[in-house]
Formats: sequence, structure tokens, C-alpha cells
Amino acid sequence: MAVYKISDDISLYRYGKPYDTEAVVVRELEKAGDEPLKYLQEIEGKGVNLTYTMDRDDIIFGLGENMGGINKRGREYISFCTDDYEHTEGKRSLYGAHTFFIVDGRDTFGVFIDYPGKFKIDAGFTHRDILEIEIPTGDVDIYIIEGEDKNQIVKNFRELVGRSYIPPKWGFGYQQCRWSYLNAGEVEQVVDAMRERGIPCDTVYLDIDYMVDFKDFTVDEKKFPKFPQFVERMRERGIRLIPIIDAGVKIEAGYDVYDEGEEKGYFCTTNEGDTFVGAVWPGRCAFPDFLNPDTRRWWGNLYTRLTDVGIEGFWNDMNEPALFYTPDHLEEVIEEVKSSQGENLDIYSFFKFKDRVVELSNREEDYKKFWHRDKDGRRINHHEVHNLYGYNMTRAASEGFARNRSEERTLLFSRASSIGAHRYGGIWTGDNKSWWSHILLNIQQMPGLSMCGFLYSGGDTGGFGDHADAELVTRWTQFSIFTPLLRNHAGGTRPQEPYSFDDDSAEYMKGAIELRYAMIPYLYSEFMKAVREDRGYMMPLAFEYDDSRSRGVEDQLLCGESLMLTPVYTQNARGRYIYLPEDMLCWRGRDPRNREIHRLKKGEHYLNIAIDEVPFFIRRDRMMVMGKPLNYVEEEVIRELNVVVNLESKAVYDFYDDDGKTTNEADYSLMRFTVRRKGEEVTAKVEQVAGETQVVVVNFEIYAGEDQVVKRKVYL
Ligand code: NOJ
Repeated sequence: MAVYKISDDISLYRYGKPYDTEAVVVRELEKAGDEPLKYLQEIEGKGVNLTYTMDRDDIIFGLGENMGGINKRGREYISFCTDDYEHTEGKRSLYGAHTFFIVDGRDTFGVFIDYPGKFKIDAGFTHRDILEIEIPTGDVDIYIIEGEDKNQIVKNFRELVGRSYIPPKWGFGYQQCRWSYLNAGEVEQVVDAMRERGIPCDTVYLDIDYMVDFKDFTVDEKKFPKFPQFVERMRERGIRLIPIIDAGVKIEAGYDVYDEGEEKGYFCTTNEGDTFVGAVWPGRCAFPDFLNPDTRRWWGNLYTRLTDVGIEGFWNDMNEPALFYTPDHLEEVIEEVKSSQGENLDIYSFFKFKDRVVELSNREEDYKKFWHRDKDGRRINHHEVHNLYGYNMTRAASEGFARNRSEERTLLFSRASSIGAHRYGGIWTGDNKSWWSHILLNIQQMPGLSMCGFLYSGGDTGGFGDHADAELVTRWTQFSIFTPLLRNHAGGTRPQEPYSFDDDSAEYMKGAIELRYAMIPYLYSEFMKAVREDRGYMMPLAFEYDDSRSRGVEDQLLCGESLMLTPVYTQNARGRYIYLPEDMLCWRGRDPRNREIHRLKKGEHYLNIAIDEVPFFIRRDRMMVMGKPLNYVEEEVIRELNVVVNLESKAVYDFYDDDGKTTNEADYSLMRFTVRRKGEEVTAKVEQVAGETQVVVVNFEIYAGEDQVVKRKVYL
């Protein structure tokens, strides 16, 4: 093992010859000598095995997209990007491989395991107090990250892995998806329904059926005639269309993407050097070798086929990669099925028989059947670098945008990912279900994603699988209005657009979505500050409040520096128990116009939260900055801000804004709002710290002391 000092707070312990995942952006390594591994202990075993004995109350935060609570302790996690649409309690891996976590308690330190293959983190599952990391091979980079507190550890980690992706500001608008809106007419109906009811909306998604026979970078002219004009027409209504791109490329002679990939050797190959074949939507497919920079370049340029006709955003899917089956294995199973015809299958043989068919997909053995050629020209088996596939697909797209539409931001998020992918796009949390428990799961996944740098993220609001009812979609929407990616998506279920249920429910969701639009000034400012300062966007209470009660909170979150959220995630609830770690202001309303604000004391409360109500809390000496609801983000420039302040003595807020469209980072506006109380006197000041603003007036609504409400208007 070799030790490198990355900074005062970060040490790298290098075992063997790890694969260069390019997760870390710091490339210069300074050898530190023979320092022993800090915190973790090496134990005997195959590969690298590290353990840590936890204190009874130690917490594990992080691990990005995974099952489990905000505290990840008590479970086992497998780092292996997995296409699994059953996110049930016992699942040990989902689509992301997010291997950064913080142990917080007796000692507080971060661990980042930079390893592209499959490995296990036993976070107190086998033995309550033992955290164990098991890397099957002897080649891995382990980073130990320290800092004066958890926020600093996150910041140090994020500086190590590079800055998070920035979406266009319209990506903060409401987004509507379904698998699938089958043709232009269906898309138009969605837009009509949203606009007629005045429910704000910025995008509608095109799922796989927009393509010709599920062929990437094609558009079915029968379903979407005159596609460029259609895209343009939608744009005029303030709607961007966001097509899906899948990892598998249909094998079909004459399909130019396949032909070119084949001719230039851009696909993954078998051990014998033939193109590897696996099946996804179109049947047999080839899989672009995203580890190969030439493939990435080629693939990244293919997106211009759609950006050239006005498309400005994409979602990358099935890039674990998902494999329905491989033809050779399918044949084996078919043979077995045939040979068991007429057999009297009993308890032993029946389940075995059934499993053979059910287990056709995403088999580890199939992942061992293909090979990459990486940046160093090295041939490497897919299984060893499995977690890099989705990451490098997203990277290919992002690098393509940087070449081909370098001035504009492009919306991009992926299903599979690993650390490093956060620089190129966001992620959504895949095929959740319309289950109440999955609202809670969504809440609990957000802080881990923030810590790992996946700031632009969110779940399928309303749930992807299973049928949703109006109440569930309403409550879920009321939570998702705070997540950067706010997208309602479902597949194969009853419709769940906000207007698909009864009129009252449509109004409730409209109110919540209007509130989202009014909050964009704050949400975007906090998002951008999280990107620029390598901070979290949605974080556990324990990152700001260290009392033992706050440390155990599993269903409330901090959102940016000012807000605390207490979402409702149970059916038929009329409210919920909440915990306030300090006195806070409670903002509650059915939309941004109909609201009330009152003070609540530190401690436990039961809060009535009617089905049409969204509450949020403003922390002490913090501010919430609001604009107004719009039909879509770019409908108007916000010139008037309304700032609600919870004032004890002095509150300062740095309000970030930019054009939201271009990649030009030099142009931004930073305003500083300072609100103070001296005796009975309350003052509010606005300073332009950087750049220029289009805001002309800031209305302060200041809650000072028990019942003093002071209004101040500042013209700029
Ligand atoms: C799987 C994705 O997770 C889902 O969101 C999408 O709708 C389907 N693939 C079809 O493309």
C-alpha cells in the first residue's frame, strides 16, 4: 500500500494498481511515506478488507442513491450499477455506484472508495458495530477525508472529484413525462391540458416510442411529422421536448449509427473480438464502448442530429447497461424449457425452471462476456469496470455538447452513474413505484445524492410503476417542488399528470407547482451556490444541528441554507409530527399568494397539513427569496423579489443569479441582503456584490421577535 497526501485533510491509500476511473480530478500526487491507514483497519482476506468499529450512536451518511434511511447504518450495500425496478427494502444496489460516505460520531471522517467493479460495504449489517469494506481484488484507491465538520468533509470530497453539472434554469421548471406519449398529438394534449388549467410546465418528455423501432437518434416521422417544426411550435408555447437516448444500439444493417459503429470498431467486443450482442428494446443490440475516447467522441456528436432540430435536453437510459438477455444464454434457457415439456415439475424443479426464465436479464455472467478498449488502449473486461458505463455515456454526451453547443447549457441526466458522472449530468432515481414508502425513500435518497455531487437529481414524482391515486401524487409533488429535478413520470400505469384525477386535486397540484415557480429564485441561488462552493443542496438536519434528536431525524431535510422541509409521506394523513431544532418561521400555503406565516418554537409539534397545503420552515436569521409563479421559467424576467426573513439579530443572504442559459460563468449577479435589528429598529440593505441584476425592487417581510412584522421596500 502506498500513501499519498492530497491535502492536509485528504490522504489516499493506494493498494496494488487500481484502474484509473477518472473520478478524481486531482491528478498530481505527492507521496507521503508510510503513514498507516487512518481509522480503518486492514484484516486478512482475499483482496482488500477494511473494517471500522463503530460506536453505538455513530451514523453513516452518504452513499448516494441506495435503499435505506438517511442514516445508512445497519445494511449491506453492493456497489454495482443495477437495472432493478423493484426498489424493495432488501435491495442492496440500485442504478448508481456512489461510494462516498461519512462516519459521524466518536470519530468523524469521510471515506471514498474509488473502485469501478463490484464490491461490498457492510455498514453494520452482519455485526451491528462493524463497518466492513470488502474489495475482491487487491487494487483500489481508498481516500480518507477529514475536515472540521461534516460540511467541510463534503466540501473536501467534492473538490477532489470536481464540480457538479449545471443545468439550464428552465430545468428547474415542472417537467412532465410518461412512457410514452405516443405521438405529437398526445404531447400536444398534455401541453394543452397544462396550459388550459394554468399549471406551469417547462418540458414534456419523449420516451422510447418517438424513435423508429427504438433506434437511437432517429425520429419516427409517422408519429412526429415535421419534427423540427413541432419542436419549434412547442418552444413557442414555452415547452422544451426532452428525448430519451438508450445505451443499446439496434443491430440492423443499413441503420447508419450501427453501421458506422461497427465499421469503426466503436462497440464492446467479445473475447474473440466480435461485436458483443445483448438485447434491449429493439431486440439484439450492440453496446458502444464508452471507455474508448474515440467512441465517446463519435457518440457525443450523434446528439447533434437532435440538437440541430432544436432539442436542448436529453435523458440517458438503460446504461447500467441493462441487458434483457444475451442470445446464447437465451438459447440455453429455451432448450431447457423445451426439454422440460410435459415434465411433472415439483417444488424443486418448478422454482428452478421459473427462475431460469426470470433471471435471464442483467446477469453477472453476461457482464463478463464483453470487453472494452480504454483510453490507454488497454483491453479490459466489462465486469471489472462495470460501474463506469453509465458515467462514460453521460460524459460522451456532455463532451459532445461542450464541442457542439458550447455556449448553451444542455439538460442532461442519466439513470446509471458513479462518482465522476456528477460533473457531466444529473441523475434521476429510476423506476420507483407509486408507493407511499417511496416518497420517504425519495426524501432519504436526496442528502446522499447531494453529498456525492449529484445535485441535479430527483425521483419520478408520483411513482413510475404501479397505479397512483390523486393523494399520493399530490403529496409527492409537494415534496418534489423542492428537488432540483421536478419530473412527474410513470410507465404502463393509470395516467398521473396533475390534471388526470379530480378537479380539486388538479388545483392542489397547481398550487404546489406555482409555489415551486415562485421559489425558483431561492432554489436556483442555493443550487448554484452548492455547485460553486461544493456544498450540499438537500442535507440531513445533523449537518447543521448536532443535538441527538436532530441527528436521528429521518424524514425532514434542510434545503439550501435557509429552509427546513417536513414533507407528508403517509396516506390519509392530516398532518404529521415535526421536530424543530430551533425557533423557526413556518410558511404555509396552498400557493404562493394564499399563505400565512407564523412562528413556531423549538421542539416537538404536531402540524396540521391539509391536502392542499405546503409548509416549509425558515431557519433563524435566514431568509427565503421568492419571485412569482409563471407558466414557464423563461416567460418573464423576475424584477421584483419578495424576501421573508426570520430575524433574531442579523440575517445575511447572498442571492446568486445568472442568465440560466449560457455556459458563460463570468456573468452572474450576486446580491447581498442584510437585515438587522438594533433594539426596536429593523433595517434592510441590498448590495450588488458582483455583476448586474435585472431586479428593480426587493420587498422585505421581516418577522422580528415574537410578533413584530416589519415591511421594507428597497428600490435598486
Ligand atoms: C426505463 C426507465 O427507467 C424508465 O424511466 C423509462 O420510461 C423506460 N425505461 C422506457 O424507456
